[in-house]
Amino acid sequence: MEAALAILHAQDVVAVPTETVYGLAGDATSGQAVARIFEAKGRPSFNPLIAHVSTLEMAETLAVFDPLARTLAEAFWPGPLTLVLPSRPNTSVHPLATAGLETVALRMPRGFAALLAGAFGRPLAAPSANRSGRITATTAEAVAEELGDRIGLVVDGGATPVGVESTILKVENGRIHLLRPGGLAVDEIEAMAGTDVLRPDKAAAAAVQAPGMLASHYAPDAALRLGATDVRIGEALLAFGPWRAANVSQALAYRNLSETGDLREAAANLFSFLKVLDRSGAKTIAVEPVPRSGLGEAINDRLARAAAPR
Ligand code: TXA
Ligand code: MG
Repeated sequence: MEAALAILHAQDVVAVPTETVYGLAGDATSGQAVARIFEAKGRPSFNPLIAHVSTLEMAETLAVFDPLARTLAEAFWPGPLTLVLPSRPNTSVHPLATAGLETVALRMPRGFAALLAGAFGRPLAAPSANRSGRITATTAEAVAEELGDRIGLVVDGGATPVGVESTILKVENGRIHLLRPGGLAVDEIEAMAGTDVLRPDKAAAAAVQAPGMLASHYAPDAALRLGATDVRIGEALLAFGPWRAANVSQALAYRNLSETGDLREAAANLFSFLKVLDRSGAKTIAVEPVPRSGLGEAINDRLARAAAPR
């Protein structure tokens, strides 16, 4: 904690665990710290960052919460939910972190990142701690592999329990728009809010609402073949559930996201298993179908992006 705070005060960056994935954190109010984040990640600076807060009070100094946004925050924070809300005119978040938008993405995480934001007393800008476009890091080892030569400290909190990034919602005029499916299932949000979560239509999605939603993302070196019901020569297999694709014995490498078909377990395993299979040297990773319900929406979203043409 002390070492991490010293780095933040020096306007540098530190990798820290949250309950979703590891983040690359810096002082969200410092242009220099935010610039360091973009530099270390190799991320285009038009892609805005999430500001992580330790309390709802801190969040309310940064953005305007309407009653619906406050209800969502009270129900699901701390947790794997990010809210995109109108920035307050006197917000302390540096414009580089919001890429000059009039909105800000806010999240109150669980785990070390929340403690750190609380001890620092300021919001922490933190994207996922991977190089831009690459597989998200869910362990400290994966962060070190991705960014070890570019950053001074990785705080090791073990494997992150949720395993996929937060669900991002934009709350506007009493409506909830889904910008990114993630670690909080949409049906849970709908049940709590008593209103539908609106999914982007294809045209709006094409306009890239959340710039991290660029088609190709989370890309392993191998190609991905989705919805696989067999294994072909030279392929590794990412399986799901108790049923097996045909010719499993010829898979170069094999991992099962969840033997029992549990979507939470599958989300937690997704990125680390993709990395393991990628390392096997297979040219292609065949991926068995994963249901789209609950956390399956986020899993299928990440798989589709990992499979997208580059
Ligand atoms: O679980 C998570 O959300 C992790 C952990 C570290 O908190 N963070 C994460 O950050 O996934 P990142 O930077 O990889 O993804 C944040 C996404 C990006 O797609 C970005 O474009 C979008 O949030 N975003 C940020 N600010 C936004 C805004 N004002 N409006 C719309 N999208 C925004
Ligand atoms: Mg990311």
